[in-house]
Amino acid sequence: MGFRILGTGTALPERVVTNDDLSEFLDTSDEWISQRTGIKTRHVCTTDSLDDLATRAAEEALSYAGVDASELDLIVCSTTSPDHIVPAQATAVGERIGAACPSFDVAAACAGFIFALDVADGWFARGRARRVLVVAAERYTRLMDWHDRSTCVLFGDGASAAVLGDGGEGFISVHLSTKPDLEVLEVPGLSGSSPFNVSEPRPCTLSMHGGEVFKYGVTSIVQEVRKLAADAGITPQDIDHFVFHQANGRILDSAITRLGIDGDRVVRTLADTGNISSACIPLALDKLVRTGELAAGEYVAMVGFGAGLTTGSCLLQWDEKSAGAATLAKTPSDLSD
Ligand code: UT7
Repeated sequence: MGFRILGTGTALPERVVTNDDLSEFLDTSDEWISQRTGIKTRHVCTTDSLDDLATRAAEEALSYAGVDASELDLIVCSTTSPDHIVPAQATAVGERIGAACPSFDVAAACAGFIFALDVADGWFARGRARRVLVVAAERYTRLMDWHDRSTCVLFGDGASAAVLGDGGEGFISVHLSTKPDLEVLEVPGLSGSSPFNVSEPRPCTLSMHGGEVFKYGVTSIVQEVRKLAADAGITPQDIDHFVFHQANGRILDSAITRLGIDGDRVVRTLADTGNISSACIPLALDKLVRTGELAAGEYVAMVGFGAGLTTGSCLLQWDEKSAGAATLAKTPSDLSD
């Protein structure tokens, strides 16, 4: 049994920080950040907790889907920047929305939403779920070294969610991969205060070799889109919407050129939000849903990549019961043209 996406929702903190705001305390400029990344602003938590954002995104998605929290069979949260180490971020959402189902987190960095969807797909396939809430919630501003201009200008906070229902076709294709390399992008865990620990504490802040992640991002998008299209017996040009991880506008530009796809089909949200890790993909999908750009019959390809180095990609075909589906735009004969 497959699934379809019934509803989506997003929550961003109110505080918007511009590139000029950052240049007040960092040796940087709006010109550098805009040109090298495409980011103009990011939303950052001030008084909001990640529980607040994740819950708001979940409630929006549930309301869009017309699903009550009591109907949920599973909550999976994708996060690597949770409010709680114990219990799971998903469990905090479950408590706030009044759900009584199992809940746990998935940690696959910026590819986490696709990994979480794949976990949910397994529950549908085994007949264990009819309704699943997948939330991606990230508060990377808590993981930044705010003296490091090469990383802290890139990230923001936010949460986005999708409610899945049984009965759809599910994945046409899905691929998950990890090429283990901790050096490229890492946030060490907490050192704690054990009286027995004698090793040197490491700061719990993000360090990254940006150029390597950049190349990995472009290569991942290109390879994954080609694989997804080949699995479906179509070409990349036949795919109607591309929802890629939003790390850098130049990564998107380079992938678009190499794939020879129409840039207008690639959703872009990073100018307003920056990189919100695993929340980027559901947020971009929510934008497509809410702006009425999705029609039944259309193909949607998603690719996430990041720390790990980890990649997740999937191809879905929207149907008339999927979130935001406009009237049937394509018949099977249109698709084979
Ligand atoms: O979600 C996945 C995780 N992250 C990513 O996907 C990030 C992928 N990587 C990138 O987006 C880019 O590699 C960066 C935006 C991180 C860096 O861009 P770049 O074009 O690769 O710049 P660079 O690291 O080669 O640095 C070029 C120069 C350096 O100065 P020098 O050595 O040439 O004098 C940097 O110190 O730019 C300097 N620089 C900055 N200057 C002003 C680095 N950050 C900044 C800054 N403002 N914020």
